Amino acid sequence: MNVKQKEDEIDKKVNELLEKLTLEEKIELISGGTQWSTKPIPRLGIKPMFMTDGPHGIGPHSSGEKECTYFPVGICRASTWNENLMTEFGIALGEEVREIGYHVILGPGINIIRTPMCGRNFEYQTEDPFLNSRLVVPTVQGIQSRRISACVKHYICNNQEHWRLWVNAIVSDRALHEIYYPGFKAAVEEGDTWSIMGCYNRINGHFGCEHEKYLKEVLMNEWGFRGFVVSDWGALNYVESPGVCIRAGLSLEMPKANRYEKSWVKRELDSGVFTINDLDEIVRRLLRVMFFVGLFDDPSTLPEGSRNTREHQQVARKIAAEGIVLLKNEGDILPLDENSIKKISVIGPNADKKMGNGGGSSNVKPPHEITPLEGIKELLDGKATVVEELDAESDVTIVVVGLDHESGTDGEGGDKKSFSMAENHEKAIFDALEASKKVVIVLVNGSPLDMTPWIDKTPAVVEAWYAGMEGGRAIADVLFGRVNPSGKLPVTFPKRLEDSPAHASEETYPGIDDEDEGPFVKYEEGIYVGYRHFDAKNIEPLFPFGHGLSYTSFLYENIRVTPAKASLKLDEEIEVKVDITNVGQMAGAEVAQLYVEDVECPVDRPPRELKGFQKVFLQPGEKKEVKFTIKADYLKYYDESESKWTVEPGEFKFHVGSSSRDIRQVTSFYLEP
Ligand code: GLC
Repeated sequence: MNVKQKEDEIDKKVNELLEKLTLEEKIELISGGTQWSTKPIPRLGIKPMFMTDGPHGIGPHSSGEKECTYFPVGICRASTWNENLMTEFGIALGEEVREIGYHVILGPGINIIRTPMCGRNFEYQTEDPFLNSRLVVPTVQGIQSRRISACVKHYICNNQEHWRLWVNAIVSDRALHEIYYPGFKAAVEEGDTWSIMGCYNRINGHFGCEHEKYLKEVLMNEWGFRGFVVSDWGALNYVESPGVCIRAGLSLEMPKANRYEKSWVKRELDSGVFTINDLDEIVRRLLRVMFFVGLFDDPSTLPEGSRNTREHQQVARKIAAEGIVLLKNEGDILPLDENSIKKISVIGPNADKKMGNGGGSSNVKPPHEITPLEGIKELLDGKATVVEELDAESDVTIVVVGLDHESGTDGEGGDKKSFSMAENHEKAIFDALEASKKVVIVLVNGSPLDMTPWIDKTPAVVEAWYAGMEGGRAIADVLFGRVNPSGKLPVTFPKRLEDSPAHASEETYPGIDDEDEGPFVKYEEGIYVGYRHFDAKNIEPLFPFGHGLSYTSFLYENIRVTPAKASLKLDEEIEVKVDITNVGQMAGAEVAQLYVEDVECPVDRPPRELKGFQKVFLQPGEKKEVKFTIKADYLKYYDESESKWTVEPGEFKFHVGSSSRDIRQVTSFYLEP
């Protein structure tokens, strides 16, 4: 039986089951039975469906305190720019959920990183819609290959934690189509995610969980989403009525019936706020995914689960190693030579700090967590003396600083209180600069932060993010050159917070609490999020989107495009090729990026937009041809006046380089009418 036949089979069973359900039973099914599961309907053999946090590992709070693999966080995974690795991650995460006997993982989180201040930036991926889309698809496919449902969140525009439960995000249709939809659209259309989590906040006046336009019209009718939408936990506490949410297509209120309370639902059914067809449709979506995840199958026929395995820890370490970004390396201070160093100081508040407790629902309780200090000690294995204080005798001082998950920094429920690191973190840097002949900064954080007080005084800076339970080993591998760093920033690091597009005024961030309208935040920057803004306004970032150095160097040559001109039909594609050579002494991987510039356009467009990337691994001296496939769609912009995607014939430029600001090759393409 092929997939289509299987799914028709499932839909037949779903409809048969739907027929048998009473009204009461249908209403039972659409709200939580426990904090982490739906209600069973024993009469019909419907078991509870179990859901667990979170985006980078199973949470202890939602799994009965289970120890599970703590994978690198979203922004670290995104820094790998490696789609295959996202598949591996998804499979491993799905296997862990399968092993504990659950059915849905509440992740990945893919809200666009609009401001450096959002407390949950670490859980998300990027500021760029194309990268967001390319990485969420393999993650979802990996998870669901184990018949575990992904639950892509938080739909939509949950880009800050400040007032998250009720803030009204005022966003233009063009910004929704070009920036905020794409990740979710790809997760549905290409990833076939079986569930989506509705956000707490409002978008253009209505709560995400009651919004008929974004749920029914866009998600279901336009994109063809066939799974179920679950509310964020407690998100219905502020909506006006159950009927509006049922009509909009919200299948499940978690953790329990607040609005989806039986008598209230019945009253609104009787008064015509929604119809029995609306109710059947949301129940049908729930039942469909229950079949997908094997709720009605003999457990012995379902994919094997596994948890805390060496394999999963290796996946975590591989992601960490590829997600670490070498930001600066003046004088090639790095890599350090493990055979010549006699003494090394490893200091800083994050040197020996465990980060698994991820600041809220994304926390994980791993069987172990290797800190940077432990990773360095293990790698050196007695070959050098490792001290945990400043010592003028040390050949090098590693200062591990950044943020953590304490309140007011990288955590859920609130945004960062400051763009800077805490004082003791900066002090550790200044003390080291004072006392040591060679200083290397390692950042352990989950979002852009202020580096201007010290960046010009430090020759080497490594961005390690919250790199998971194996992060300390990966950091040591990069510092001592056992791994050649290949990570690339998925977000812009601004020099000053006010340079960031969201920080134009109080209305644009964190918003205004209007006494009539309630709190709102205006996305006045529109499509100019992240590097789009910095490029359009010619603002120099501290480190640009796509930036990441290597211990070797790469030469880009011989860009060519075929065809050089065409009047593209929808399914036609353009091929851009570039030859890349490793001209250094060390093997390494390079993420070549392709940005499109629309030279002649009647509307304002960003100077360049990411529309392709390829990660290529090269031995010293090795050359490879790298190919980008540009679809006709990639040239389009969303015309708000016509409410449709469109493109103007004329010249386009393809910029290929090592970051959004390190363009190595450019070529033109002419789109004919
Ligand atoms: C939280 C989070 C969401 C999480 C859910 C369950 O409030 O916003 O990401 O999955 O509730 O813990």
